[in-house]
Amino acid sequence: MAREFSTVGVVGLGTMGAGIVEVFARNGIDVVAVEISAPALERGRATLTGSTDRAVAKGKLAEADRDALHERVHFAVGLDALHSVDLVIEAVPEHLDLKQRIFAELDRVCRPEAILATNTSSLSVTEISVATSRPNQVIGIHFFNPAPVMKLVEVVRTVVTAPDVVADVEALCARLGKVDVTINDRAGFIANALLFGYLNHAVGMVESHYATREDIDAAMKLGCGLPMGPLALMDLIGLDTAYEILDTMYRRGGRDRRHAPVPLLKQMVTAGLLGRKSGRGFYTYERPGSPVVVPDETTPLATDAALADGARAITKVGVVGSGTMATGIIEVFAKAGYEVVSVTRGMEKSATVCEAVKTSLNKGVVRGKLAETDRDAALGRISWSATLDHLADVDLVVEAVVEELSVKKALFASLDEICKPGVVLATTTSSLPVIDVAMATQRPADVVGLHFFNPAPVMPLVEVVRTIRTSPEATATARAVCAALGKTGVVCGDRSGFIVNALLFPYLNDAVKMLEASYSTTDDIDHAMKLGCGYPMGPFELLDVVGLDVALAIQRELYLELREPGFAPAPLLEHLVTAGYLGRKTRRGFRDHSHR
Ligand SMILES: NC(=O)c1ccc[n+]([C@@H]2O[C@H](COP(=O)([O-])OP(=O)(O)OC[C@H]3O[C@@H](n4cnc5c(N)ncnc54)[C@H](O)[C@@H]3O)[C@@H](O)[C@H]2O)c1
Repeated sequence: MAREFSTVGVVGLGTMGAGIVEVFARNGIDVVAVEISAPALERGRATLTGSTDRAVAKGKLAEADRDALHERVHFAVGLDALHSVDLVIEAVPEHLDLKQRIFAELDRVCRPEAILATNTSSLSVTEISVATSRPNQVIGIHFFNPAPVMKLVEVVRTVVTAPDVVADVEALCARLGKVDVTINDRAGFIANALLFGYLNHAVGMVESHYATREDIDAAMKLGCGLPMGPLALMDLIGLDTAYEILDTMYRRGGRDRRHAPVPLLKQMVTAGLLGRKSGRGFYTYERPGSPVVVPDETTPLATDAALADGARAITKVGVVGSGTMATGIIEVFAKAGYEVVSVTRGMEKSATVCEAVKTSLNKGVVRGKLAETDRDAALGRISWSATLDHLADVDLVVEAVVEELSVKKALFASLDEICKPGVVLATTTSSLPVIDVAMATQRPADVVGLHFFNPAPVMPLVEVVRTIRTSPEATATARAVCAALGKTGVVCGDRSGFIVNALLFPYLNDAVKMLEASYSTTDDIDHAMKLGCGYPMGPFELLDVVGLDVALAIQRELYLELREPGFAPAPLLEHLVTAGYLGRKTRRGFRDHSHR
């Protein structure tokens, strides 16, 4: 017969524990909430009160329900208060010896039939379980941060966890309104195994001054639709916790260098910069525990004047190319009021591009997003040409021709001869080194990357790539132009994948490797990332949309440039591409799309 869970214990009321208490109490279950000391207990109580008060203020919880919720929670110092609970969830800091000590103590204090669960993110549940005399009743119940909000729970069974314990915990998750995925005991389970390499990589970008914290976070939010950027997420997780998770994953997960904590992280933890909980991490917060970011000494000035500082005036823009990106970019500039000269390789191509721009603008009119007069004005600003000579008097050229270095270099050499001095020359390349293109000209200081995302009229992000030769004025100009287009320009160095692809594709590749290792299924991995981390799509959904061939090509570039063994493309990805399973475009990728 299934167990009844009428009272549960929660040990440790920090970032996760306080939220877990709330989850149970909200669902009508009595909770014994335990901490190590009276001040820590008070902090935990305050976190719970703050969270439920915010829910009331937002109209998500009735006052009476809040009061009933609080009545269900009994606070105590010390584990002895847990003598009669049906289940305990431990959420103390991520140290194996501490957890083992607590489990040995819980084993002594709790009823023999009680289930003992750990919320560990990366430690071995098996190793924790052997500190007790009942390892078959020990399980991982891994909630996500913030626990009351995130839908996912990873249920981790060890080789000795009893099947009825797993089944009862799964039923409990359903009662809590959570979606569970049940998996074996492996470092980082599903979500963290895919998340932490990415987070650590982002920290490395900050450490090496590759891009600013604001730009990295904006890039991942706007470029991938993530609910928060990696550095803001590190602050939410807690840098001490993140450090321990990375360290454990490094040691348990095959010493993948990508999990070796970036040195900056250790320095920040030592300096007490733990993230939101201490009021300062990558960002500075109003006060400890507050989610409100306040400006500090590294916050960039967001004023128009600051953006335009050193920027050159741009009124006339040349766009070279006739593909999807060029078409979108022409539209974006024309709509923003720039005079645009489109150059293609022939008037026939120009006619096609012109039609495509018209169709797209018309869609805006039909949807009520663009006035007819604005459409006509935008079209009136575009002139169509098949010769580069018409770019002699533009202020900015955006190149969006085929992704081949020889073609781009030849084009930039011609632009160098034709364009007036002071012009900013931009390439939209997504994978080639911008410096190679820049050195095809006699003016590399004026060359930048302007990496638009597809579809350009919709996507709010542009990566502004500065090479080691790009002048501050050219970078400032590119950034100011992005702002004038209503886009967010993020500045980064000239490395393979820039910000977004460098952070995104290794994660996708890791998901393929996880599938290949038969650790989990496409559905569970997709679920885990959507429900545990709030991603708009799971990795396999996204791979099928992006195209497996595209993903493989980008991953190969990253691997070749950085020589990072962990970036080697997953053999399964290679095989699927070889087999012609490229994703939605061939109706089959990781999933079969032929019937949809
Ligand atoms: N932070 C996250 O985003 C996140 C997400 C999922 C899981 N986890 C996991 O949850 C666990 C807790 O992490 P956290 O971020 O909440 O840590 P935290 O540092 O915010 O909180 C830990 C709490 O445990 C208390 N504690 C320490 N020793 C204790 C003891 N002997 N008895 C009772 N309480 C004790 C501390 O006083 C503190 O309040 C870790 O295993 C972590 O890996 C964290």
